[in-house]
Amino acid sequence: MTTAETDRAAGRLLAVASGKGGVGKTVLAIGLAQALAQAGQRVLLVDADLGLANVDVQLGLDPRHDVADVLAGRLSAAAAATTHDAGFAVLPGRSGSGALAGLEPVAVARLEAALRAATAEFDTVLLDLGAGLDAAVRRLAACADLLLVVATEEPTSLTDAYAVLKLHRRDRPGAAARLVVNQVSDRAAGERTWRTLDQACSRFLGAGVPLAGIVPRDARVADSIRHQTPLLTRHPTCSAARQIAFLAKFLST
Ligand SMILES: Nc1ncnc2c1ncn2[C@@H]1O[C@H](COP(=O)(O)OP(=O)(O)OP(=O)(O)O)[C@@H](O)[C@H]1O
Ligand SMILES: [Mg+2]
Repeated sequence: MTTAETDRAAGRLLAVASGKGGVGKTVLAIGLAQALAQAGQRVLLVDADLGLANVDVQLGLDPRHDVADVLAGRLSAAAAATTHDAGFAVLPGRSGSGALAGLEPVAVARLEAALRAATAEFDTVLLDLGAGLDAAVRRLAACADLLLVVATEEPTSLTDAYAVLKLHRRDRPGAAARLVVNQVSDRAAGERTWRTLDQACSRFLGAGVPLAGIVPRDARVADSIRHQTPLLTRHPTCSAARQIAFLAKFLST
């Protein structure tokens, strides 16, 4: 191993969570993976929605291997991953497999170790977590170096984001977490949403939640999903793509 290799810092584990489903975790995770790759990072996007995987569907992939190979100890995360044309690696989940939903803690621990090991080969390992707050989601969120919590303007999404932050602080006191407000009608509404949550966190959890980014509601997102093409490939200059790229830049500094 060369000095440059030994000196190279391990990559970072980022996780995207929300509590409430359908707020845009997968859209943001794919967009961030592509934007970070475009900035020169080696990125592994992991579909860690263990019950209802859909990263491969949004990306139109037909993978040979998936997270089940990693859980079974057959392959490393890097070896099981598929390279996407957009410049990042994808470790797909396995949809509809009851064996993956509600995993035993020992299997989650194995996955956690494999993901941490992947940071030796990737600058960013990005976990797209499932909705809800089950034990596997909490464990994977707790192993991240930074948790990105996604909320929308809807009050139910805000209360679920609060619950994620509350449990995350309990599971891993002092861990870094930031908010992304997605599908906003305008920037001011996104900032109001953030302030509401930030104040609740300051008051009841003892510390606020810093803002990572605000992404507008944009019809081009649904269009890119329909075409199973990443947003930054299909509509690189649309408003949502620009804000996701901006978020990636912010996370890289
Ligand atoms: N910024 C946006 N503008 C418009 N629509 C969006 C935006 N972000 C997400 N969506 C829409 O919201 C839907 C859900 O997005 P996505 O699948 O990323 O959510 P999720 O949080 O990953 O859902 P799940 O909890 O089921 O995993 C998508 O169909 C997409 O079209
Ligand atoms: Mg999803």
